[in-house]
This record gives sequence, structure tokens and C-alpha cells, in this order.
Amino acid sequence: MPSVIESEVLIRVVEPRDLREVYEVESMSFTGSLTYDFSVFLFYYVTAHDLFLVAEALGRVIGYIIGLIEVRRREILGHVISIAIHPLYRGLGIGSKLLKALEERLTSRGALRIFLEVDVLNKPAISFYRKHGYVISGILKNYYGVSDAYIMVKEVGASLKQF
Ligand SMILES: CC(C)(COP(=O)(O)OP(=O)(O)OC[C@H]1O[C@@H](n2cnc3c(N)ncnc32)[C@H](O)[C@@H]1OP(=O)(O)O)[C@@H](O)C(=O)NCCC(=O)NCCS
Repeated sequence: MPSVIESEVLIRVVEPRDLREVYEVESMSFTGSLTYDFSVFLFYYVTAHDLFLVAEALGRVIGYIIGLIEVRRREILGHVISIAIHPLYRGLGIGSKLLKALEERLTSRGALRIFLEVDVLNKPAISFYRKHGYVISGILKNYYGVSDAYIMVKEVGASLKQF
């Protein structure tokens, strides 16, 4: 495994030239219908703007995160659409770096709560989100076809800097 330390990881907004490597990370991270098509990344490149971030190390994209701002019942909400880290680079704090960078951008746009959906069977991701202060607030039956999703929510704002 190429050695990389957290300080060598650059978090930045995605560029068109990154999309192929983003898709490679995706393909190594999800299986079957849970894997986004390449066209989905093109779509979010256009719609998510600077809420589509990548982690770059050694000149390659090794992780990505996509978020959106959504308004529901007059409340501004942050939505984590997806995150994935290259399997060789997990457990090094890179997912945390991406999530914190996205949370800062979402709160700076007025979100006081951030939510996401996660497969109920995806224990590592649930643990990851719990570590970052997200709590399960509901369940969406058959959200991923056969499997269900938890909705996880985090209250953000003044306390965000603690993480
Ligand atoms: C979930 C994911 C993004 C985490 O990224 P990461 O860079 O490996 O996570 P970090 O190193 O920042 O871990 C932060 C904390 O999350 C938790 N965590 C991360 N991976 C974990 C695992 N495999 N099992 C249990 N807890 C885990 C731990 O609490 C960890 O803190 P610690 O290192 O002090 O124990 C990564 O595992 C991944 O890409 N998974 C595949 C794609 C996916 O499932 N995405 C989520 C879809 S909703």
C-alpha cells in the first residue's frame, strides 16, 4: 500500500478531470445497484457545485464526498449524498476529513441539521457516522431495493468545531 499520511491529503472541490478516478473509487466501494453510474457523478458535478469534494494524495483521487443543500418545510438542511474512500486508504482519517470539510460548507450555507441515508447492513459506515455525532432518526423501508436505510441526523452549528 502506498504510504500516505493525513497531512499529505488535499481536500478540494472536484474538477472534471477527477470524475474517472471518483468513479473508480465508487466501483471499489459499492456493489450492484448501490454503485452510482458515471452519469450520476456528471449530474452531481453540475448540481452540487462546491459541495462535491475529493481527497487527493500522491496525485490521485482516493476519496470523494457529495452533499446538497435542501429546503424542507422552510428549514435549510444539509444532505450527505454519498462518501467513499479507496479501500487501501480507509481507517486513516480521510473520510473524517472529507465529512468535516463538507459539514463546514453546509453550515456556512445555513444548515443547522445534516441528514443522510445509510444501508442498515453497512456497519462500518453507521459506526463512522455515529463517531461524527449522527444519530438514527428513522428507517426507510426498501430504500436500496431489498435492503432498508436508516436516516441519520446531526444537529450542527456552533458545536461543529468540536469535531
Ligand atoms: C465509511 C467510510 C467512508 C469511512 O472512511 P474512513 O476514511 O475509513 O474513516 P476514518 O478513518 O475517518 O474513520 C473515522 C471513524 O469512523 C469509524 N470507522 C471507520 N471505519 C470503520 C470500520 N470499518 N468499522 C468500524 N468503525 C469504523 C471509527 O470510529 C473511526 O474512528 P477511529 O479510527 O478512531 O476508530 C469508508 O469505510 C468507506 O469508503 N466505506 C465504503 C463506502 C461506504 O460505505 N460509504 C458510506 C455510504 S452511506
